[in-house]
Amino acid sequence: MKYIETERLILREWTLNDVHDQVEGLSNFETAKNLAVPFPYTEKDSIEYISKHSKNGPNKYAFAIELKGTKKVIGGTDLGLNSKHENYCSGIWLNENYTGKGYGTETYIALDKFAFEVLNIDKIEEGFFEFNNRSKHLHEKVGYKIIGKSTAFCPALNHEVVEILTRLTKANFYNALKAPKLKEVYNNTIIHN
Ligand SMILES: CC(C)(COP(=O)(O)OP(=O)(O)OC[C@H]1O[C@@H](n2cnc3c(N)ncnc32)[C@H](O)[C@@H]1OP(=O)(O)O)[C@@H](O)C(=O)NCCC(=O)NCCS
Repeated sequence: MKYIETERLILREWTLNDVHDQVEGLSNFETAKNLAVPFPYTEKDSIEYISKHSKNGPNKYAFAIELKGTKKVIGGTDLGLNSKHENYCSGIWLNENYTGKGYGTETYIALDKFAFEVLNIDKIEEGFFEFNNRSKHLHEKVGYKIIGKSTAFCPALNHEVVEILTRLTKANFYNALKAPKLKEVYNNTIIHN
């Protein structure tokens, strides 16, 4: 798989040219308080991450989310087998300046289409911090169901937070796509092999 294309985005492998955009996005407290990434997020963190995650497959995929027009990297998303090799897990973040414009929805649909139709997996597990209502809304919109609770350390907040655990099955994903707007996003998603 070379890259995933949506109406407005390209999801592609990270390169070291993306360090500036990644640091810009993740060094923002409003973004980082929802994530388990280092805080403050430095160039060194970014170089380390990209060096480890710039080659995709077979069981782990990390994508820079690039805006088609300007080629700016406005976020990141990933999908991979967890440490026990039992489940595929995913995550997402967007630069705060680019939130609330539907890019999150576009990224979720693209990643899930890739997971279910190219990797042929049958479920994806994720989570969101309990105060993250926007992420909760997005999870539910694309078909994720809540399956439990855990705790995680959030470096930006510097304390443990409650994490709500979620799961998306293939069946629930296709059920969510009955909403015409989501179906259109799905139809506009092309996976370039
Ligand atoms: C969470 C995130 C990925 C969402 O992406 P986005 O591009 O902002 O999301 P979209 O614009 O596609 O959709 C946002 C939806 O949430 C809704 N929303 C926004 N703020 C909300 C809130 N406080 N409570 C509930 N819903 C909210 C919007 O109305 C929209 O719903 P709709 O499409 O049904 O109208 C992005 O905001 C982000 O990266 N945030 C910081 C990091 C983060 O939280 N990552 C996820 C960790 S689990």
